[in-house]
Amino acid sequence: MTNQWMSPLGAVNPQVRCYERRLGLVARLFGIALGLLALAPAAAQEQAIASAHPLATKAGFEVLEAGGNAFDAAIAVTAALAVVEPYSSGLGGGGFWLLHRAQDDYQTMLDGRERAPLAAQRDLYLDEQGQVRAGLSIDGPLAAGVPGTPAALQHLTDHYATLSLADNLAPAIRLANRGFAVGAHYQRMARFRLEALRASPDAARIFLQAGAIPELGTMVQQPELAKVLEHLAKQGARAFYEGEIAQQLVRGVRAAGGIWTLRDFREYRVVERKPVRGRYQGVQIITAAPPSSGGVALISMLNILGGYSLEEFSSTTRKHLMIEAMRRAYRDRAEYLGDPDFVDVPMERLLHPYYAAGLRAGISLHTATPSGALAGYGAATPKASNTTHFSILDREGNRVAATLSINYPFGSGFVPPGTGILLNDEMDDFSIRPGTPNVYGLVGAEANAIAPGKRMLSSMSPTFLESERGVAILGTPGGSRIITMMLQAVLEFTQGTGPQDWVNRPRFHHQYLPDQVQYEVGAFTDSEMAGLRRLGHTLVPLEGDYGNMQAIFWERDNAAVVAASDPRGVGHAEVR
Ligand code: DON
Repeated sequence: MTNQWMSPLGAVNPQVRCYERRLGLVARLFGIALGLLALAPAAAQEQAIASAHPLATKAGFEVLEAGGNAFDAAIAVTAALAVVEPYSSGLGGGGFWLLHRAQDDYQTMLDGRERAPLAAQRDLYLDEQGQVRAGLSIDGPLAAGVPGTPAALQHLTDHYATLSLADNLAPAIRLANRGFAVGAHYQRMARFRLEALRASPDAARIFLQAGAIPELGTMVQQPELAKVLEHLAKQGARAFYEGEIAQQLVRGVRAAGGIWTLRDFREYRVVERKPVRGRYQGVQIITAAPPSSGGVALISMLNILGGYSLEEFSSTTRKHLMIEAMRRAYRDRAEYLGDPDFVDVPMERLLHPYYAAGLRAGISLHTATPSGALAGYGAATPKASNTTHFSILDREGNRVAATLSINYPFGSGFVPPGTGILLNDEMDDFSIRPGTPNVYGLVGAEANAIAPGKRMLSSMSPTFLESERGVAILGTPGGSRIITMMLQAVLEFTQGTGPQDWVNRPRFHHQYLPDQVQYEVGAFTDSEMAGLRRLGHTLVPLEGDYGNMQAIFWERDNAAVVAASDPRGVGHAEVR
């Protein structure tokens, strides 16, 4: 059991680390050899799924119990969430699937992020005076990037799953035909996006009731979506990107003012990317690569904090340092991050400990750095939002952490007639004009400007943590706040707590601009608040809570598996 956790990449044995220090390169090679020898297939006695909806968790277990692995279950959960959480993700959206294959310790990130249509130019959302045409990157068909989720389901099937796509889509097809009951959360999301949904006759017919928010318990049936899923089951993703479905989608989008073409669909490709890696207090962090900004910003914050002995400071100073690390990582996000296929993201520099040391040198223990002093754009406060995350561990030790999105609640609110597919409004994640904040208040510049076929920058950060304690699989929605939630979860992990604590903990957030600390009730004690204000921080309490973290922990010592679903959401975590 003891060595099951070792991987040549993961080096978690403390003895090996100690030799490395003393004997340098020779011992390092010895350590790697030990790691390779210890590459026994990692097997968990139990399997676990944590997702944002009980019916999606159930769909995943159905597939696991039919002999599928974590990747089969990921297909089932992705498709089920597309049906029962229509305000969060779907076939009309995209996402990142972080995978760990146990048999050879292979780790990769499937990038199924949406792409800008080929007809999209950098000033797509500006008028002749260069002013932003309000709402066009958020509501309706012009806001939608070319979806990646169907292609990702096919990629998972071709390269990682063991069952057929039809087997794995079966639970979602059933759910789409039978329907699911409207709950209070659905109502809140629909209320938030009522106008956008009303503007699309098909969206209103499917997701509203006579143009109003459906009553609690109303069954939402989606026969058209079931048909699309059936086509996928029979013909694979080709049915979506090349056949009648693509034609219907493109026709519907163009008739309503969008710019999609069939070529956008023919040319869409999933990309496998090398996850971003970092280390903090003996924990190996494996996380999202660009076009997500999440991994780089997370590691950058941890690199900054890694230079302090945090435990020696008061809790106020600790939180001050976290806020200052957040501020700097988000400044770099705005400046440098974008689709790596289009822009040169200086990864090595941003992830280098010396770079973090430079940023740390600018942090004062005694005063907040005004964001304006770091260089600036203007920004507003983010509003309510949605997206989804699930985590899976199977008995072979395969893992999936996936964060999926259609961006805003109910995406663009637009369903092309007859398709049943709700389109994303992910185009708003581009920097639509340098310095103009998006719905999350995030600013950006050249690196994240719109270009034909480019992927818009994301904050989604599905993550694995590996240490002597065990393995964690986690992630969350939350727009710009995703990355700071992940930071707080990693710090919790290093404190020795379990998944319930990671998902429960009250959260706070700083994103460079606006220059303010947003926080949930309970994130700070009175004395911490007074202390942070004295240091010059502006504290802004949030009306509600945020995030919907789904986490699994596979403990090394007793091989126990624990899973937790964020109490802020309606999800369900289960170990069997
Ligand atoms: O990719 C992104 O960063 C955003 N589209 C994610 C949106 C999100 O998490 C909304 N969640 N509450």
